[in-house]
Amino acid sequence: MSTQANRPDATSPPLYPHELEGVIATRDGRTLAVRPIRPGDADHLVAFHHRLSTDSIYRRYFSLHTELSDAEVAHLTTVDYVDRLALVVFEGRELVAVGRFDRYPDSTTAEVAFVVLDTHQHQGLGLALLERLADAAWDRGVETFSASTLASNRDMLAVFYDSGFPVEVVHDAEEIEVRFAIEPTATVRARRAERRDRSGEPGSP
Ligand SMILES: CC(C)(COP(=O)(O)OP(=O)(O)OC[C@H]1O[C@@H](n2cnc3c(N)ncnc32)[C@H](O)[C@@H]1OP(=O)(O)O)[C@@H](O)C(=O)NCCC(=O)NCCS
Repeated sequence: MSTQANRPDATSPPLYPHELEGVIATRDGRTLAVRPIRPGDADHLVAFHHRLSTDSIYRRYFSLHTELSDAEVAHLTTVDYVDRLALVVFEGRELVAVGRFDRYPDSTTAEVAFVVLDTHQHQGLGLALLERLADAAWDRGVETFSASTLASNRDMLAVFYDSGFPVEVVHDAEEIEVRFAIEPTATVRARRAERRDRSGEPGSP
């Protein structure tokens, strides 16, 4: 697949996993490019952050974090594609969603986090990113995802429960922590197949 967003550039590091490049079909029938993040995405990420509503920023960062510092942008866009991996979704040249996992040191558990542009929420991007991140993480020896989310964040919780992964709430308060094994079990595969049948989407890689 060759789209503008997927075209290799001078900032693609040597271990960049081209096999994770692909497309995601949205609920309303658009086809968006998805690929691993690269250091050259810094300007895209800053523009994306500026387009997020304060509500989405709050739900992602648990604070009104309206500006990303240069150090944060460098940290978020520079990953090793093994213990830290982020996938970005583009509509044309516009970054519209990010999902990432960060493995805890010397562990088979990774923290996962997502943010989708407000105009692109409820299109299946959150769930599609979770599926792709889980597959990539499993291939890299991660066995469990954990996530912190506000208890009121129905959309995030819906994505986790819709995935078919065995979600367990390990800390229940205003901010809750969930954990789930990401093994692609028969249940998880059946849930994905069901969703694809309903949406008419072809099988994802
Ligand atoms: C949480 C968040 C990432 C979810 O992303 P999203 O792209 O909107 O998620 P999805 O579209 O995959 O799923 C959300 C809803 O759409 C529904 N949906 C998605 N695809 C669908 C489809 N093809 N057919 C029917 N329903 C679908 C899901 O079932 C879910 O519905 P529900 O809320 O009515 O149960 C997004 O809302 C966001 O960025 N929020 C701000 C940041 C944040 O909260 N981050 C979480 C901290 S880790």
